[in-house]
Amino acid sequence: MINIALLGHGVVGSGTAAVLNEKASQLKRVTGQDVALKYVLVRHDYDVDYKEKFVYDFSVIENDEDVRIVVEAMGGINPALDYVTRALNKGKSVVTSNKELVAQHGRRLMELAKEKGVNFMFEAAVGGAVPVIHAVRNCLKANSVYAVAGILNGTTNYILTKMIDEGMSFDRALKQAQELGYAEADPSADVDGIDTCRKICILSDIIFKNHVYPEDVAVEGIRSVHIEDVNILKKHGGCVKLLGVARKAGEKLMVTVAPFAVLDKGVIGATDDVFNSVQVETDNAGTMAFYGRGAGSLPTASAVVNDICECVTAGGPAYEGWNGPKEGFLADVRQVPMRYYLRVEADADKLRADFEGAQVLHSGSETAMITADICGRELEEKLSGYSVKAVLKVF
Ligand code: HSE
Repeated sequence: MINIALLGHGVVGSGTAAVLNEKASQLKRVTGQDVALKYVLVRHDYDVDYKEKFVYDFSVIENDEDVRIVVEAMGGINPALDYVTRALNKGKSVVTSNKELVAQHGRRLMELAKEKGVNFMFEAAVGGAVPVIHAVRNCLKANSVYAVAGILNGTTNYILTKMIDEGMSFDRALKQAQELGYAEADPSADVDGIDTCRKICILSDIIFKNHVYPEDVAVEGIRSVHIEDVNILKKHGGCVKLLGVARKAGEKLMVTVAPFAVLDKGVIGATDDVFNSVQVETDNAGTMAFYGRGAGSLPTASAVVNDICECVTAGGPAYEGWNGPKEGFLADVRQVPMRYYLRVEADADKLRADFEGAQVLHSGSETAMITADICGRELEEKLSGYSVKAVLKVF
């Protein structure tokens, strides 16, 4: 019998309890063991038919040698970090959906798990149900990765989709995302790109093997997206998406979170509603993409319960960690050449003369265009003196 203790009974915790219960016989078949929920750590009672499993003090779980796996679904750093550290120290594997915890402390927790001969797994922390962490860990061993980019926040993608396709107001779309259990407790973590940033940092850690702290990443959320730009891009088959992007820039790594103008009809451009997608660019395999539900109770629980199965069958630490942050590893985003979408109050001919190779999308009293590759710093200089209405990085 593999006993599970669940910390937290919110969107992810309650979904995990439901999946463990509903899939009990399937889990026995795939792991060869009975996998059962023994405890749920809660702050207050809920009206469920497994109330007898509720405990209110983490030390009950910590000191029960029969608990093999602790699932942390509380979110935030405190007290999650303390509980996860104590569980690992007691030789229990930990599965978490907590992106903030992994983005800040994942490296140290991986090291501790390895030292204790157990697992620390966090598939649900990035992309909800999408098994992108398993994919980049397991399936790209014969490749060098140049870039990873994705729609990593279901809430903002849901809001953008509802606003753009259905003309819904921002507030109403956000309220719906909250009701559906997609949004963070403080939805500014979604809207301002902080959640996406944590997730692209975790992907960068695993893929590029040096820890990237969220506070070192340039982040912009969706508050600055204008409907005018969405409409112009739409006419040209494009859209605006909040992306987390990590791309090799010589020996360095550029990591950024921002609303991007997405021009092609690839998987990222076609990812709407709560769905997430992650695109990985590699040498041998070329470009590949992963797509699925990025938030919500059962999709996230799907990833959590799969990690539980991996802990049961792994027989020891399944994965290596990554190195600490490296001085000078991160590139300044404004020094990396890329294309930009601009909307400027100026005549198209004048802008064409200043931006050689630009493609004009719209002209009138304002001009919208896509530049050729240019560094952000140079772009800023060239735009000084112009009345600039919008600047978006291009994906
Ligand atoms: N608030 C997050 C999102 C939840 O909307 O994607 C899943 O991490």
